Amino acid sequence: STSQLVLGIETSCDETGIGLASTANGLIAHRVFSQIDMHAAYGGVVPELASRDHVRRIVPLIRETLAAAGGGLDDLDAIGYTTGPGLAGALLVGASVAESLALGLGIPAVPIHHLEGHLLSPMLSSAPPSFPFVALLVSGGHTQLMRVGGVGDYVLLGESVDDAAGEAFDKTAKLLGLPYPGGPILSRLATQGKAGSFRLPRPMKNSGDLMFSFSGLKTAVLTATQKPDFTPDRTADLAAEFQEAVVDVLCVKARAALAQTGLDQLVVAGGVGANARLRERLQRDIGRRGGKVFFPELEYCSDNGAMIAFACAMRLREGRVAALASDGAFAVRP
Ligand code: KG4
Ligand code: ZN
Repeated sequence: STSQLVLGIETSCDETGIGLASTANGLIAHRVFSQIDMHAAYGGVVPELASRDHVRRIVPLIRETLAAAGGGLDDLDAIGYTTGPGLAGALLVGASVAESLALGLGIPAVPIHHLEGHLLSPMLSSAPPSFPFVALLVSGGHTQLMRVGGVGDYVLLGESVDDAAGEAFDKTAKLLGLPYPGGPILSRLATQGKAGSFRLPRPMKNSGDLMFSFSGLKTAVLTATQKPDFTPDRTADLAAEFQEAVVDVLCVKARAALAQTGLDQLVVAGGVGANARLRERLQRDIGRRGGKVFFPELEYCSDNGAMIAFACAMRLREGRVAALASDGAFAVRP
């Protein structure tokens, strides 16, 4: 069949993302507007402000993305949009624009699960993985290991029983007095410190399954800062040890997931996939065992519309346009 052109819309949190992809050639163009500066003053994302800013940005960004590709609305064959999970009001902006635009243009609107966007984003790189692979999804809201057999074929192998890895980074950064957004700032501070001068636990490292737990780590960090021998100049060391603890557990479980599935490709996706130490450790640990690790390009690690347009185009190509539930029933549990 002929190629179809897809607009992708992402508004689940604090980034307005628009992407343009075709079923034949993949990603064509994308634009992101990040609200980070606006929310920084409040120390975190303010949902109502996020929704209002999406309203402000979305139409200009759609225009810009289409113009970058030299096209217009009439060239579109479908509109994919993030249906969840995310902030309700923020999601509604993208959903309303996508559904009404699609209705007006007489083309389908396709709900796309946010995590499916992240999951497939390493395929946007110039040397993409091939199915099947194991995906380690590490974002602000999720920490999951999945077996990905193909588009729409996701089997959940394990996940966090409490905080997500990104959430642990953000909460720990906050209690160390670091500004928002905590994760990347904590990891930058960690490069100036030395892991091992504090001893933090590696929660569930030896649990024998593929589950994670990160909420205890931030408590352990808090306890360390309350000890009489703690001085603020040791914050970088504590940050380094915290990061090492998270990375240790993620590496061990990712390796175990490859062993359990008998696969040799690991795909890392989601915001924490930008973490330099995680990238380095995974490359080393898995490369040493003959495996191969794939990361999304940094611009596709955080939330963006490219991954939504791409996921939608892949679904259309495979004829899998049926909506995925946005309530977490995204991967099949074995
Ligand atoms: O995937 P994402 O952009 O949004 C969600 O869908 O959650 O992930 C954002 C998360 C935040 O928790 C952020 O602190 C974390 O990813 N993050 C990092 C780094 N860059 C972003 N965590 C650790 N190190 C980083 N370099
Ligand atoms: Zn995300």
